[in-house]
Amino acid sequence: MKIKAKAIQIIENTAKKIPAVQRLLEKEYNKLLSEIEESAKPYKDLESFPVIPQKGIEREDILQKMIGFQEKEQDKWKDGFVSGAVYHGDNEHIEFLNKVLAINSQSNPLHSDVWPSAAKYEAEIVSMTGNMMNGHAVTGKDEVCGTVSSGGTESIMLAMKTYRDWARDKKGIKKPEMIVPITAHAAFDKASQYFGIKMRHVSVDHNYQANVKEVKKTVNKNTIVIVGSAPAFPHGIIDPIKELSEIARKRKIGFHVDACLGGFLLPWAEKLGYDVPVFDFRLPGVTSISADTHKYGYTAKGTSVILYRNLELRHYQYYTATEWPGGLYFSPTFAGSRPGSLSAACWASMLSIGEEGYLKSTKKIVVTADKIKKAISEIPELYILGKPLWVISFGSEVLDIYKVLDAMAKRKWSLNGLHKPSALHIAITLRHTQNGVAGQFIKDLKESVAYVKTQPKTKGGMAPMYGLAASIPFRGAISDLLKRYLDILYKV
Ligand SMILES: Cc1ncc(COP(=O)(O)O)c(C=O)c1O
Repeated sequence: MKIKAKAIQIIENTAKKIPAVQRLLEKEYNKLLSEIEESAKPYKDLESFPVIPQKGIEREDILQKMIGFQEKEQDKWKDGFVSGAVYHGDNEHIEFLNKVLAINSQSNPLHSDVWPSAAKYEAEIVSMTGNMMNGHAVTGKDEVCGTVSSGGTESIMLAMKTYRDWARDKKGIKKPEMIVPITAHAAFDKASQYFGIKMRHVSVDHNYQANVKEVKKTVNKNTIVIVGSAPAFPHGIIDPIKELSEIARKRKIGFHVDACLGGFLLPWAEKLGYDVPVFDFRLPGVTSISADTHKYGYTAKGTSVILYRNLELRHYQYYTATEWPGGLYFSPTFAGSRPGSLSAACWASMLSIGEEGYLKSTKKIVVTADKIKKAISEIPELYILGKPLWVISFGSEVLDIYKVLDAMAKRKWSLNGLHKPSALHIAITLRHTQNGVAGQFIKDLKESVAYVKTQPKTKGGMAPMYGLAASIPFRGAISDLLKRYLDILYKV
């Protein structure tokens, strides 16, 4: 931690113990959160169930309640007003996945003896993903392998735990460190906290790519893994994977490519002739890759794939218990019991879409992104950060970009707010490739910019929250605020 940040933390920790400061903070938290609670809990006036009902409610009534919520919620994402979130969303595809989910609703891969089909699905998901990542380029005693996990965060956390245990066993590293660009997903920080791996953040350059020189300088005898993203969530920029992975290869340490977002899009974009740098197992330094099937793999939420360059690494991910009275126990990922239906849906999604379908979808997404990028670059008050392919982030030198976020929200848009620097982003999905959606986005964005220019003092929305986060040096207070927000979500 830098000296200034450390000093601020000490001041904050001391100040938080003073009752007057506690009261002041409490007042501020309550004020901010009461404004946010309105939008976070739109159903709070409806009938709620704080305890199990004494007598079971009719199934049909329950279904009707849920259909009510679904109808309220689906327009926004179905019509393409949401960044990322739902990556396919066509009715026929959803209906197909729903049938698969229903057929497999009882399946649990933990019991592979009862549901060997789940093991087949998962083995083939891993194999298909490994081949898409050019796993066949790996020769000699290495062999690309992996497991299915519950999502990008789990894939990343599994990989970091794997490197920690591998480095402890093979290299005797007891104080492990990971080198991670600041733009890499927050899941790496989560892994650092959960598994006691020291986080060594490195900066990004003017293109928002990891700073290679800084990575080189940061590597030391305790480094277990270097991370690069393809692309990173905030700005959709691909790190210099080749250069970074070479640093790792020369030091004989791990190199993880986070392709959670790009794993199921970049390989097809490359085949279509777009300028995609090599980021997969063709690079000899790449030792693991995370790729999310529940994003551009177009399956239901709840699966991702974590791939390793060799079987030895995967063994450090597995968990086995040989002395438990409950029997011999083994599981490949963090969970014990798992929803086999999600693996079945993932397998079915990959088979039904096929190479042709992935190529077609990728083409549509990149063409739509090009249209949107061009329009944003023609709005004089805005600028695009770096040179992204399809996840587009934009900021402004002259306007409060969070007010633009709020003005877009009033026009139904749900975009992502970014900070450091202040910006917004839209991750283009198939929902945005529907007729008229890109045009609507451009029209609404122009109107929103014009509105914020003339009404810069409009109150409410997310702007105050982001303003606060940007202006307060006390990060603990921001963290407390976020925890209280989670508390609100769990309020009945
Ligand atoms: C680059 C990247 N990595 C990891 C993740 C985490 O994925 P999940 O939300 O499935 O845990 C995301 C999510 O958007 C991402 O964009």
